[in-house]
Amino acid sequence: MPMPTTILITGASSGIGAALALEYAAPGVTLHLGARNTERLEAVAVAARAAGATVAITTVDVTDAESIRRWVIAADDSMPLDLIIANAGVSAGTSGLQGAEPDAQVRAVFATNLDGVLNTILPILPRMAARGRGQLALVSSLAGYRGMPSAPSYCASKAAVKVFGEALRGTVHSSGVKVSVVCPGYVRTPLTDVNDFPMPFLMETDKAARLIRRGLERDKARIAFPWPLAATVWLLQALPPAWIDPILRRLPGKAAQVA
Ligand SMILES: NC(=O)c1ccc[n+]([C@@H]2O[C@H](COP(=O)([O-])OP(=O)(O)OC[C@H]3O[C@@H](n4cnc5c(N)ncnc54)[C@H](OP(=O)(O)O)[C@@H]3O)[C@@H](O)[C@H]2O)c1
Repeated sequence: MPMPTTILITGASSGIGAALALEYAAPGVTLHLGARNTERLEAVAVAARAAGATVAITTVDVTDAESIRRWVIAADDSMPLDLIIANAGVSAGTSGLQGAEPDAQVRAVFATNLDGVLNTILPILPRMAARGRGQLALVSSLAGYRGMPSAPSYCASKAAVKVFGEALRGTVHSSGVKVSVVCPGYVRTPLTDVNDFPMPFLMETDKAARLIRRGLERDKARIAFPWPLAATVWLLQALPPAWIDPILRRLPGKAAQVA
């Protein structure tokens, strides 16, 4: 597959998105980087430019469908996009709550993690299909394999992204557009820095970015890592809920706030 030279990444101000920007940064590569925090985005842009890339940053909220549509279309007008990585996401759990997640938390998680992905990729799909080329990476999570009592909306939002991406890959296959779903395990970022429970196989962002890039270069349907955790969650979703639910109920969770 030809190397992508025009790439748009959401959630590029931090963590996995920032690491992906730096992984792809090189002479001849144009990066369109978006997130809400302009200062952090600018810092990533400075590092990416130092690696030789041409970088444009845009302060954008992925929950604002019209703003993100304008950004994606303007980027594509300036030079057709080869790759879009819909990465922006937030997480929150149920630790400290007596009952279910608050309404506002559930809606905020879905608005960013699910609507944010759709807002990013839907405007570009007809253009890529008309060109007969282009690649979409939808960032889900290993948390999307099975609903965990510790984070219902996070798991469900990531499950929706995973299933939508898996299906879309087949739907648009004949048009030449490639779709991959990215399912990381624990990666050390501000999103996981707040967790006060053990995170098995915790990975650094540069390694995660390399694995994602390699998976995209191979046009893998699902880029899931690390494999021992991927195998564990696969088993969790395959076994009867009656066996698994009592175990999952005892697992520690993330604090109840959108972080
Ligand atoms: N870290 C992990 O262990 C892990 C595991 C599996 C999946 N993931 C997924 O990987 C993705 C990146 O997470 P991360 O770990 O790198 O977390 P992070 O360091 O907190 O980065 C999240 C990124 O999303 C951006 N963002 C959040 N809400 C946004 C919004 N409404 N509009 C635009 N940008 C928004 C943030 O930037 P601003 O705050 O500047 O907007 C930031 O750049 C997420 O989808 C996450 O669910 C992470």
